[in-house]
Amino acid sequence: MGICLSARIKAETSPSHTGESSKHVSADVNDISRSSSKSSSSSVPPTPRSEGEILQSSNLKSFSFADLKMATRNFRPDSVLGEGGFGSVFKGWIDENSFAASKPGTGMIIAVKKLNLESFQGHKEWLAEVNYLGQFCHPHLVKLIGYCLEDEHRLLVYEFMPRGSLENHLFRRGSYFQPLSWNLRIKVALDAAKGLAFLHSAETKVIYRDFKTSNILLDTNYTAKLSDFGLAKDGPTGDKSHVSTRVMGTYGYAAPEYLATGHLTVRSDIYSFGVVLLEMLSGRRAVDKNRPSGEHNLVEWARPYLTNKRKIFRILDSRLEGQYSLDVAYKAANLALRCLSTEPKFRPSMDEVVKELDQFNDSTKEMANTLGNQTTGQRHRRRSAGDLPKANVVSAAAYPRPSASPLFTK
Ligand SMILES: Nc1ncnc2c1ncn2[C@@H]1O[C@H](COP(=O)(O)OP(=O)(O)O)[C@@H](O)[C@H]1O
Ligand SMILES: [Mg+2]
Repeated sequence: MGICLSARIKAETSPSHTGESSKHVSADVNDISRSSSKSSSSSVPPTPRSEGEILQSSNLKSFSFADLKMATRNFRPDSVLGEGGFGSVFKGWIDENSFAASKPGTGMIIAVKKLNLESFQGHKEWLAEVNYLGQFCHPHLVKLIGYCLEDEHRLLVYEFMPRGSLENHLFRRGSYFQPLSWNLRIKVALDAAKGLAFLHSAETKVIYRDFKTSNILLDTNYTAKLSDFGLAKDGPTGDKSHVSTRVMGTYGYAAPEYLATGHLTVRSDIYSFGVVLLEMLSGRRAVDKNRPSGEHNLVEWARPYLTNKRKIFRILDSRLEGQYSLDVAYKAANLALRCLSTEPKFRPSMDEVVKELDQFNDSTKEMANTLGNQTTGQRHRRRSAGDLPKANVVSAAAYPRPSASPLFTK
């Protein structure tokens, strides 16, 4: 586990491709290239790298556009796995040895993100993904296999995550997606926390900046991995407390101090983690305009209930009834509350979050064992993914196309 290839290095985009993306509105177009030089605790000091250096040293496969066109059967609309602010993600097939396009159903399944072709929009985010995911190798970060840079085309080729995004599992209704059980929610939260803790570690010192349910992907065993590194950024170094940057991210997840000042720290990611944890506990979206007024913003609505053990059940997802102990649920809610502290210094570190979630995971397993021995304890449980025998679990490869995630604009 750790950094697979070179030592920590930072991205520097070529000046010709600093166009604004349509996903994130901001004031500073030279964001990445303006990053101040930094020292790091890794053995080799980071060196700013040009686009050419990033691509050369990444050890990723460089695909031609024709390869990926063939692998995805000409980007067939019915093979769309998801859509984000920068483009669509398609399912495709390649030979696992040669990486050449293979017949659908044979070889290895890949996910191909094809960036929209609006005058190099998103190039910087594309390069940031190549830079970060090309270097990192961790069980809770999605694996980047390669990229395509040809004329105006910008694509990324990832390992395929058969169960799609956490967003779909939490919020999409219908027979394709069973609600995730309490056990799985705790496991997914723990996995994602481990991914974030790795990024924040002294070894890597990266701020992820876009922690949200649509960027957490699930494999067949519900192992969660962080994906979409387009907004990732090197953390502050030396005696600097923050990185000054344009405000980017997603409405409902971004930390209040970052929104107000543009000062970015790892603590901003921890706030976003708190929002996601709250979404997992409540089954509600961070922002939902379809809720009654006063309930549009999840954090604002839930905050008063999080501090009171007797009120906590009011925010817990009713689909989880009977699956958790009130004690653990209260502790989880309290952890979310601390991550959501308005004052960044009161937020726990990701290492602390991992430690706490690990304990919940253990007590959750104990509870599951106890319930397993008491047949009456199972009676009130609703059907959830993770509770079902394998044959009944949705065919993840066929999950329906989600709508684009809400975007943040300032
Ligand atoms: N490797 C993958 N395997 C399966 N589905 C994926 C994969 N990568 C992305 N997706 C789907 O596509 C959606 C958008 O992908 P993402 O990388 O977040 O794009 P964007 O950068 O445009 O936000 C995800 O929420 C998910 O549903
Ligand atoms: Mg995304």
